[in-house]
Amino acid sequence: MQYIMLDTETDFDGWRKAARSLVLHHVPPGAVTWTVQGHEAELFAPSSPSPILEVNDGTFTVSAKFVELAKAAILHRDSERFAILYRLLFRLKDNHDLIEVATDPDVALVTAMAKAVYRDEHKMHAFVRFREIGRERQAHYVAWFEPEHHVVKLAAPFFAKRFADMPWSILTPDLCAHWDGHALSFTPGVSKSEAPGEDRLEETWRRYYASIFNPARLKVKAMQAEMPKKYWRNLPEASIIKPLIEDAERMTGAMIANAATDPHKPQKRPEAPMRRKPAADDLETLREEAAHCRACHLYKDATQTVFGEGPKNANIMLVGEQPGDKEDLAGHPFVGPAGQMLDRALEEAGVDRKKVYVTNAVKHFKFVPRGKVRLHQKPNTPEIRACRQWYEREVSAIQPDLIVAMGATAAQSVFGKITPIGKNRGRLIELPEGRKALVTVHPSYLLRLPDPEAKVLEYRRFVEDLKIAAGLQKKAARAA
Ligand code: URA
Repeated sequence: MQYIMLDTETDFDGWRKAARSLVLHHVPPGAVTWTVQGHEAELFAPSSPSPILEVNDGTFTVSAKFVELAKAAILHRDSERFAILYRLLFRLKDNHDLIEVATDPDVALVTAMAKAVYRDEHKMHAFVRFREIGRERQAHYVAWFEPEHHVVKLAAPFFAKRFADMPWSILTPDLCAHWDGHALSFTPGVSKSEAPGEDRLEETWRRYYASIFNPARLKVKAMQAEMPKKYWRNLPEASIIKPLIEDAERMTGAMIANAATDPHKPQKRPEAPMRRKPAADDLETLREEAAHCRACHLYKDATQTVFGEGPKNANIMLVGEQPGDKEDLAGHPFVGPAGQMLDRALEEAGVDRKKVYVTNAVKHFKFVPRGKVRLHQKPNTPEIRACRQWYEREVSAIQPDLIVAMGATAAQSVFGKITPIGKNRGRLIELPEGRKALVTVHPSYLLRLPDPEAKVLEYRRFVEDLKIAAGLQKKAARAA
């Protein structure tokens, strides 16, 4: 029996070195016990670990895909992970292509572990809240977080980039990460009693959260899935979530009561015309998949993927450029200043936002940090292309009749090529599968116009463009 002791819970290099040597000596998985230093007292552990066997000859390679999966899966908290990874590696030696067999039990297990780790990294990015200790020049920001897996080292570079100009520490029971403005460092885990409590930043968070909370789009189940209750206790906004939900239920109840006296016919979706293909993907599955998208580098700095939102039977789809600062934090499209401008224009044009599907060509926020602010950066063609798969899959899930491209990035995604706004705006353009596209400006363009007169005129043109969508929405409602 080989007894392998790794230096730490996340010692990928140690595991790789030992595993490679064991495979080359044909040591079967059942003859290896894996443990981590500090856990020696566990059952059946011999007094000293086996030395790593010398490798004199023989070699073998594994695919980059396995290495990537293994590097993530080793961060999973399951104590069997080292053994499971070794079992898969042992089998891969004689069957390289096994890694492509998604239904193989070991491949499926390792893939699921890697996914759980990425999900946990994402949760850490989204739910860490710093509390200020000391003021002004002495200020240090400290957060308490309890990750499900060993993701502190994986997640820390994101915070170093995002909060580059403030010294911070993230304390966890496993490991603590620290940033002094120049370099990251790590110290052993601590207990919760060492984390600071409430401070003056809490109120700011609560106000911000209340301002972006939209009762019309409240889905308690989805909210709990995205923000599991175990994270709530460390969030400043946690204390207002319950009252906000109750208030939303009251408001929705009032809306339903009003609707009962409304003489309008129920809004049923028209019969699907022959051209429609069956919906390819379930939207919730797409959203879940997109949450772990790494098709381009933008996921690294963004807080989270901001996926599209709206009813799955919407006949109008609005496409923007990419989430902005507020959307990146909130995880919802068009909730910041551009979203408010869009809401106003939609209302004036007679389009009901609750009945349209709203999304962006690029699903991660691209920015450069400037002091404490994050300056929006326009996505480039490779980024738009990398993200287009999500737009295409949203289109096949929703099957909209009309796609409104707001701005140049959206138009590039909708038409699959650079499409000038000026030459194409304000008229219906045929798309494949009998769909139509409408090109118009982006609401942020209106916000940026310096001349007040031009601002008014351009806003009016924007509303006129949206009236074309309103006409279609009304026609569909009448046909229902
Ligand atoms: N701008 C966009 O294009 N999309 C958003 O969601 C917000 C601002």
